[in-house]
Amino acid sequence: MKLFHINELEENQSKGFTVNNTAIFAVKRDNQIFVYKNDCPHLGITLEFQADKFLDLDNHFIECANHGALFEVENGECISGPCLGQTLEAYPFDIVDGYVEVN
Ligand code: FES
Repeated sequence: MKLFHINELEENQSKGFTVNNTAIFAVKRDNQIFVYKNDCPHLGITLEFQADKFLDLDNHFIECANHGALFEVENGECISGPCLGQTLEAYPFDIVDGYVEVN
């Protein structure tokens, strides 16, 4: 299933999707795409309050809007907040002809 073309997502921007009833989101950083389950390891709920807003004000970390946990974009590790040391679950994807695709 095609999600989006890599050129549709700006650098340091994020976008949410639902795939097979699973909420996921994608982030672009340094021209690379990262995809995670939209499932905060703190309480097991979705991270965002506003559609497609998964990053902090500086667009540097992934931020959980519920209690402010911050996660590294590159590996999903929580570096601040109530789930410190836990990680977002990476969601598998491929890039085919410039499109991010998931099963
Ligand atoms: S639910 Fe994400 S920090 Fe609490």
